[in-house]
Amino acid sequence: MDAYTKLLNRLDTEQFTWLVTGAAGFIGSNLVEALLKKNQKVVGLDNFATGHQKNLDEVQGLVSDSQWQNFTFINGDIRELTTCQQACEGVDYVLHQAALGSVPRSLADPITSNSANITGFLNMLVAARDAQVKSFVYAASSSTYGDHPALPKVEENIGNPLSPYAVTKYVNELYADVFSRSYGFHSAGLRYFNVFGRRQDPNGAYAAVIPKWTAAMNNGEDVFINGDGETSRDFCFIENVIQANLLSATTELEKSEVFNVAVGDRTTLNQLFEAIRAALAENGVNYDKSPVYRDFRAGDVRHSQADVGKAQRLLGYAPQYRIMQGISLTMPWYIKNT
Ligand SMILES: NC(=O)c1ccc[n+]([C@@H]2O[C@H](COP(=O)([O-])OP(=O)(O)OC[C@H]3O[C@@H](n4cnc5c(N)ncnc54)[C@H](O)[C@@H]3O)[C@@H](O)[C@H]2O)c1
Repeated sequence: MDAYTKLLNRLDTEQFTWLVTGAAGFIGSNLVEALLKKNQKVVGLDNFATGHQKNLDEVQGLVSDSQWQNFTFINGDIRELTTCQQACEGVDYVLHQAALGSVPRSLADPITSNSANITGFLNMLVAARDAQVKSFVYAASSSTYGDHPALPKVEENIGNPLSPYAVTKYVNELYADVFSRSYGFHSAGLRYFNVFGRRQDPNGAYAAVIPKWTAAMNNGEDVFINGDGETSRDFCFIENVIQANLLSATTELEKSEVFNVAVGDRTTLNQLFEAIRAALAENGVNYDKSPVYRDFRAGDVRHSQADVGKAQRLLGYAPQYRIMQGISLTMPWYIKNT
């Protein structure tokens, strides 16, 4: 039996308390949903900076009444240490997702990204350490590879960060490492590579590419490709991210570690455009416009593809969804919600 199936079976018989920060966001709300469906107790923390009450409402509709009773929500800000301390009380596992995402957002306003992503992170780390939680898992980022040219990306070879956002995520890893060596408080940083799935926000200037394009195509609007479309990414369906979080929370580590969380595939933006178009067509939405090419975007890395061997070896991570399956599963949600 694989490690994830074993873990899911174990959660059927044991109930733990999980803190999910960023619970009203895309990844956070999917973690909350997955945990509640396994009858776990969940504390959610969010300040709605980029998250939405409607994400939590949707989760409520997807779980049973008794499972929803296991959810407690704190409307609060990780930049306040006391809020983090309150949230960590009595918690077994922390899945820290709250942060301000987006490379362009951080270029436009590095100070706000810094405060949420570094001060907020440090507050969470201190609060979790002091509460003696069983483990601390946090959202790191593939942006930490910066300008390092090697493909696929292996955890120990990183380049120079290309944006303030990348700096903040790298600083998280440095703090996690120092807390491991100074206080014996170990954590797992998950370097996500372009995650996508239901509830990822399609709106606003800083929307990610899959929700932005899907919503545009669904509404017959233009799709803009930054650069020549040959920029590539290792797109990772949310279910793989849930697996990585649950496995790393429950795997005992001897020091702080970082893991690539992706699939190991590489898809260009041009291929992505065709994939979304085809998946929408399967659902009866036909888009016949060509994409509009414009300048490359500042701060973006050219190619990204993960080597997920370390997560496989240390955590038993085995991604179950490749990009096309994920896109097929995601389209109905966007057709209904955009
Ligand atoms: N989505 C991706 O492809 C991707 C890739 C790499 C890393 N990440 C990281 O994963 C995490 C989750 O990202 P997401 O895509 O779900 O984004 P999201 O914006 O949907 O979720 C982030 C959540 O954190 C909350 N938040 C922000 N600042 C906060 C604060 N000061 N206090 C409390 N809550 C706060 C937001 O309101 C939001 O609900 C982030 O740390 C992000 O940097 C995401």
